[in-house]
Amino acid sequence: MLSSLRLLASLVCLLPLGLIAAEEDDLPDGNGKETFVQMCANCHALKRVVKIRYPKKFWESVVDDMVSRGAEGTEEEAAVVISYLSRNFGKPLNINQATAKQIQAGLSFSPAHSELIVRYRTEHGDFKSFEDLQKIEGLSAKLLDEQKNNIKF
Ligand code: HEC
Repeated sequence: MLSSLRLLASLVCLLPLGLIAAEEDDLPDGNGKETFVQMCANCHALKRVVKIRYPKKFWESVVDDMVSRGAEGTEEEAAVVISYLSRNFGKPLNINQATAKQIQAGLSFSPAHSELIVRYRTEHGDFKSFEDLQKIEGLSAKLLDEQKNNIKF
């Protein structure tokens, strides 16, 4: 009797871990995945977090909000989670149709860098591929890489 109770108790304890592991398998791999799971899986399903794609600005405010609700992590870990979510669940933007303001709001480039993208487009014509964007001098390669999945042509 006692041992079956113990078995039941340990099964109940393991259940959430099993659910988290199953959810983890569905998430895209890459830098930040582990930190995301560690920081965000305690209170609600991760599936609920990633059901919609949002711009980076939104992910920043969500993570801020979650920290105020008790999500635990350093500032660095929060930045890693924001980057992971932005890379994999960012909102796509057509880089040939967007204004500088929309590039800034949608992809989190600085105002000056957003202008740089529009100026390059005006001078050289529509971007055809990600490589075209990499030719723009002065853009942050790190941010460009983070936003790669969100840039449409
Ligand atoms: C300490 C508990 C806790 C942790 C850890 C936590 N959250 Fe939350 N989260 C909440 C609560 C509470 C709500 C809002 C109440 C609700 O609807 O359940 C919420 C809601 C959300 C929502 C809105 C979901 C919806 O269905 O509308 C998102 C998105 C979200 N959290 C993202 C995150 C992210 C990203 C992390 C990791 C950085 C995280 N959460 C970690 C407590 C937490």
